[in-house]
Amino acid sequence: MRVAMIGTGYVGLVSGACFADFGHHVTCVDKDAQKIERLERGEIPIFEPGLDDIVARNRAAGRLDFAVDLTQAVREADAVFIAVGTPSRRGDGHADLSYVYAAAREIAEAAEGYTVVVTKSTVPVGTGDEVERVIRETRPDADISVVSNPEFLREGAAIEDFKRPDRIVVGTDEPRAREVMTQLYRPLALNSLPLLFTGRRTSELIKYAGNAFLAVKITFINEIADLCEQVGANVQEVARGIGLDNRIGAKFLHAGPGYGGSCFPKDTLALTRTAQEAGTPLRIVETVVGVNDVRKLAMAKKVMNVLGGDVRGKTAAVLGLTFKPNTDDMRESPALSIIHALMDKGMKIRAYDPEGMEEAKKLLPAGVTYTSGAYEAAEGADCLVIVTEWDAFRALDFERLRKIMAQTVLVDLRNIYRPDEMQALGFTYESVGRGSDAAEGLAAPAVH
Ligand SMILES: NC(=O)c1ccc[n+]([C@@H]2O[C@H](COP(=O)([O-])OP(=O)(O)OC[C@H]3O[C@@H](n4cnc5c(N)ncnc54)[C@H](O)[C@@H]3O)[C@@H](O)[C@H]2O)c1
Repeated sequence: MRVAMIGTGYVGLVSGACFADFGHHVTCVDKDAQKIERLERGEIPIFEPGLDDIVARNRAAGRLDFAVDLTQAVREADAVFIAVGTPSRRGDGHADLSYVYAAAREIAEAAEGYTVVVTKSTVPVGTGDEVERVIRETRPDADISVVSNPEFLREGAAIEDFKRPDRIVVGTDEPRAREVMTQLYRPLALNSLPLLFTGRRTSELIKYAGNAFLAVKITFINEIADLCEQVGANVQEVARGIGLDNRIGAKFLHAGPGYGGSCFPKDTLALTRTAQEAGTPLRIVETVVGVNDVRKLAMAKKVMNVLGGDVRGKTAAVLGLTFKPNTDDMRESPALSIIHALMDKGMKIRAYDPEGMEEAKKLLPAGVTYTSGAYEAAEGADCLVIVTEWDAFRALDFERLRKIMAQTVLVDLRNIYRPDEMQALGFTYESVGRGSDAAEGLAAPAVH
């Protein structure tokens, strides 16, 4: 089949390359001419493990093309995917759909013959109706079905997620569109294709409900972590203790500095706006949004407290800037809020990230010093702060760190290390939600 992918970002490039790998012919289109030029030269504009191989392989096989203008690709396509950004709209937190509607208009102008237009971008419930209206208004004669097919891939594991998804959700009531979508995904699993067909609005809502649920789960364990610190319990053991219950499940129960990234913050916010306008506010999700915002600043306070409160002139070495490992995506990363808050209090920042520094430089204040590695960042620092759990930070040489740091203080916001080990190494150690079970000075619970 022939596919046009409109928007060649984290989702569009991965989806396009994977569809090509299934044997389809794919053209990835992007308005950003520089991005397309780099791709034409064989460069991959984002960091995503394995993506370079799959792009090169399918380019060589003649199944993957790139273009700035969508006309030819759309004209020839059986399915056109919209995978453009849907960021938060300034001011009100709604999803900004201007890129989606602009793409829809251009697609309508170029389409020929029966074409399935598939919204892969995360869009609020009802957007498919509006995309259809825009298309019909632009080209009343066009033979087009508008389908919702939200994407669930995770950055850092995107190819694996796309090729081995838990489920593929397709929102359409039209048999012709259903057939095209089935053909597109069929190579993925000949026997047990996990396709879930729903109505279009339901499909759109599944994406938001899924992300909101995961954000609730993370925020829940983060609040439990705060409680653990106060009552002398260990959040990792609590998470294991509840996660072994199949009804709860072990995933998304890692306490940390709060969720970030290109999806959860904007999607939770947009969902609360949709719900408010529908007259059915989602109080739990609203609370989660607020709790998560405050949490990032609480992490900065943790750093200040461990250094005795007055941090002016002191230096923090920040390890990890991206919102999670194995990506270069800095959007809404907790590191941004934490570094801003520390600099506001007069701290100097030395920072290192294996892949995210180019993006970080665009978003962080000019005064940050970027280094070539973890030890270079730690040189002369009063405190080491692990914000992102890259593998490179999992086995640090603490003897070496002791020699080069001004003070032996580690704030581990991902609970990579063990408090007893760090104590034995002579480090002042602060992590998340790991009060000692034998904490002294705590009142025993009352017996009733
Ligand atoms: N990043 C993720 O992990 C992820 C996961 C699931 C869903 N999503 C959703 O997928 C969508 C895309 O996310 P992303 O992270 O890939 O965004 P992105 O910002 O990385 O990429 C979007 C691309 O679309 C291009 N674009 C915008 N308007 C265009 C137009 N009219 N024609 C051609 N190109 C155009 C931009 O230049 C950009 O390169 C969003 O709705 C997001 O919420 C993202």
